[in-house]
Amino acid sequence: MIKKGIILSGGKGTRMSPLTKAVNKQLLPIYDKPLIYYPLSILMLAKIRDILIVVNKGQLDQYKKLLPDGKNLGIKISYVEQDKPRGLPDAFILGEKFIGKSGVSLILGDNFFYGQYLSEKLNNSIKLNKGAKVFLHRVKKPEKYGVARFKKNKITLIKEKPKKFFSDFAITGLYFFDNNVVKLSKKLKPSKRGELEITDLLNLYKKNNKLSADFIGRGGAWLDTGSISDYYKTSDFVSAIENRQGFKIACVEEIALLNKWITRKHINNSIKFYGNCEYSDYLRKLIK
Ligand code: G1P
Repeated sequence: MIKKGIILSGGKGTRMSPLTKAVNKQLLPIYDKPLIYYPLSILMLAKIRDILIVVNKGQLDQYKKLLPDGKNLGIKISYVEQDKPRGLPDAFILGEKFIGKSGVSLILGDNFFYGQYLSEKLNNSIKLNKGAKVFLHRVKKPEKYGVARFKKNKITLIKEKPKKFFSDFAITGLYFFDNNVVKLSKKLKPSKRGELEITDLLNLYKKNNKLSADFIGRGGAWLDTGSISDYYKTSDFVSAIENRQGFKIACVEEIALLNKWITRKHINNSIKFYGNCEYSDYLRKLIK
């Protein structure tokens, strides 16, 4: 059973400069809430309540203003600072103490997931005891991502940003690992781009026949927030759905309430915390 989750929320966000010069990318808005709410909501939908956020050195205060300790969401949020990006698996080295003897899920702070069966799939994934599990999704430009070829649910080949086409299934930024992940991450050597690669880590699991895959599926969305244009397209997606249905995507208080982790009292605290805004109006409706 996986009870711990890490959000990797550092990075320089260079492709979105100058927007990211003073503010970390994951604190910028996707429509009506900061980007980090979306990956946080995914961990909460997976019923993970103990969460570590990896942030850039010097940006901790910005994060704590928004997400101080998680109490209002019925979860525990802790932080660790990273002095420079060393690749995704560095999260497991920095998070060694936090992980302890548990398995752990990792989600990238800038990844957006949406889909009808997602909650069920997530609740299934945290049951993982041994090995690793990834989520794959078909994309038009696989060369931008880690890519996997598979037979049934078994992965047969993985490559990071392959120049030559072999599959159009990208490995999304949501991973589930057993406790060996800390030990294995420490064994990795930096790649040509000078970073530890998640695909190298996944290949270690694959070599031992311990890597499985699930799919977001055709009805689900995994959207990019990498470039400015992709970022705004994701924002438009959220706006289109929310304004049509009247439901919010990634309202973390709503998820906590539905999970029965919090009560009306917490929601009222959150309304006070956010102040007079459209987001608070939505929260007010939840407890009417
Ligand atoms: C990283 C991973 C890649 C994965 C992607 C998902 O890429 O290395 O395997 O497909 O995240 O967003 P990066 O964002 O470092 O280019």
